[in-house]
Amino acid sequence: MCGIVGYIGSKQAYQIVVKGLKRLEYRGYDSAGIALYDGNNLNITKTKGKVADLEAAVFKDDNTHGSIGIGHTRWATHGVPNDVNSHPHYSNSGDLAIIHNGIIENYEALKQELKNRGYVFKSDTDTEVLVNLIEDVQLNEKVSLSKAVQIALNQAIGAYAIAVFDVKNPSELVVARLGSPLAIGVGEGEYFVASDASPFIEYTANAVYLEDGEMATINLSKDIEILKIKDGAIVDPYIQELKINLEQIEKGGFDHFMLKEIYEQPNAINDTFRGRLLPEENIIRMEGVDSNIKKFMAAKRILIIACGTSWHAGLVAEYIFEEFARVPVEVDYASEFRYRNPIINKDDIVIAISQSGETADTMAAIKMAKDKGAFVFGVCNVVGSSISRETHAGAYTHAGPEIGVASTKAFTTQITVLALIALRLAKEKGSIDREQYHYHLYEMEQIPKKVQEALGENDNIKKVAEIYKDAEDFLYLGRGFNFPVALEGALKLKEISYIHAEGYPAAEMKHGPIALIDEKMPTVVIATKKGHYEKVLSNIQEVKSRKGKIIAIINKGDTVVRELADHVIEVPETREAFTPLLTTIPLQLLSYHIAVMLNKNVDQPRNLAKSVTVE
Ligand code: G6P
Repeated sequence: MCGIVGYIGSKQAYQIVVKGLKRLEYRGYDSAGIALYDGNNLNITKTKGKVADLEAAVFKDDNTHGSIGIGHTRWATHGVPNDVNSHPHYSNSGDLAIIHNGIIENYEALKQELKNRGYVFKSDTDTEVLVNLIEDVQLNEKVSLSKAVQIALNQAIGAYAIAVFDVKNPSELVVARLGSPLAIGVGEGEYFVASDASPFIEYTANAVYLEDGEMATINLSKDIEILKIKDGAIVDPYIQELKINLEQIEKGGFDHFMLKEIYEQPNAINDTFRGRLLPEENIIRMEGVDSNIKKFMAAKRILIIACGTSWHAGLVAEYIFEEFARVPVEVDYASEFRYRNPIINKDDIVIAISQSGETADTMAAIKMAKDKGAFVFGVCNVVGSSISRETHAGAYTHAGPEIGVASTKAFTTQITVLALIALRLAKEKGSIDREQYHYHLYEMEQIPKKVQEALGENDNIKKVAEIYKDAEDFLYLGRGFNFPVALEGALKLKEISYIHAEGYPAAEMKHGPIALIDEKMPTVVIATKKGHYEKVLSNIQEVKSRKGKIIAIINKGDTVVRELADHVIEVPETREAFTPLLTTIPLQLLSYHIAVMLNKNVDQPRNLAKSVTVE
């Protein structure tokens, strides 16, 4: 994980780098650091804590000068989070400074060799080994920094996005990537580098995304030079125009990104539909599916791979695909899939779901599926991300940047994309009758409006949160399409409030979790009318007769559950397959309000990161 930012140009680098680091804190936030060269000295300030702590430390020492600078916000892998292990790291001579996102797996062996040659190390990190390896190559082989980086990286095993500079040549910054993202912003006489484009969008709309295995030499007096790390082959830079704007990555009046993103869902889902859902014409148009429709039609099975919340979206998709497209679906954690010996047949389609498009386990699972000959389809949010490029075809969710670590709008837009694909396929196969297809398309179009209505329960949800914020455990129950929503609701609560929560298929409660129920334990039950309503009523009775407290998510006007439950939260009715898009909303808001009331850091929960680029 970790976020990296760099600047080279004529402006002061400090503000640009620090502001950029704040935008990348979603990638990790246990320590931060910055290196600036002011023409005489290389000033490196590093500190355990957030970027705000770094700012305080930099000002204390007045180390804010220099028009070349690199900064880092860390999610620790090698070495505990402390000042010394924070990046940037510098070489033994003190001339080279580096920032790194990733892991150098063979760092112990490299470190030993360097130690044998007299190098000393201050930190426990793999990154300090890498910067000294680069210096060692530079000195021994008398080569340029960029050549030394290339040679050193060919000795390193692992994953990285790095930026490195040499104070002896402060008009040059060298960057490289393998397995971790890296974008270069191309301005007028200035360049920016970062883990994503958010740190530089107010300065330039032109960006080059390095591909895996590429490095770039950014020299102020030359054009940017891109090479393949392996063999030095020259690559023509492809400069693309960025489509995101500043407003999208700011809080826009909300207290937290998470809340902003929850409220963005009606628009986000509309954006997912745009140009695809065309009820008037009775069609769904999706380029990635349409152009591969034969493959989809021939698929005997769909394998879905993902992690975290995206995996929950995959579980919802399993129900939706089987219902409409009548194709068997298996859903796997990418981290399990990649380390088993999964059976993949040539008629299988693999769908990889990832908000960030950078998750290491999902990426590795995709590569494995491709090696076994599968056709891999990606459902990603971040345009141009590694997974979107690694897959054979795909569909973006178009949810806009998601910054809150707890995923919200990514989840609902993933379900939306997957439902569109399932219906598109169902029509082609004839597994849904024409009339039903038509109704579903019209009903889908109503979803953003209904999500907006569900958001209208916010004040009611806040009151429920106030009552249960001190509970130690929560149980979430749902059946059918809403079983994965129960898992997602529990995950949201755990992630940001640190309250233990379990999601369960409602009927499974009696095989274990029922033992936990007492008068203190709240159970959140998804009890919408469509889908095993009567059965869920019995489950509610089972909880009530053990004195448990029930918070029920019901359809508007349902008086039966209202009678039974301690609290109800209403959502509008919709077709059964689309209910997760509505029932998820109150669960997101419930976890949000509980976390805020408990004074937790909602957007940056402890130990988590938004983009998990390590396995
Ligand atoms: C992390 C994030 C989750 C996310 C998961 C998968 O754990 O905190 O919110 O669901 O990674 O990420 P992806 O970007 O692949 O969807």
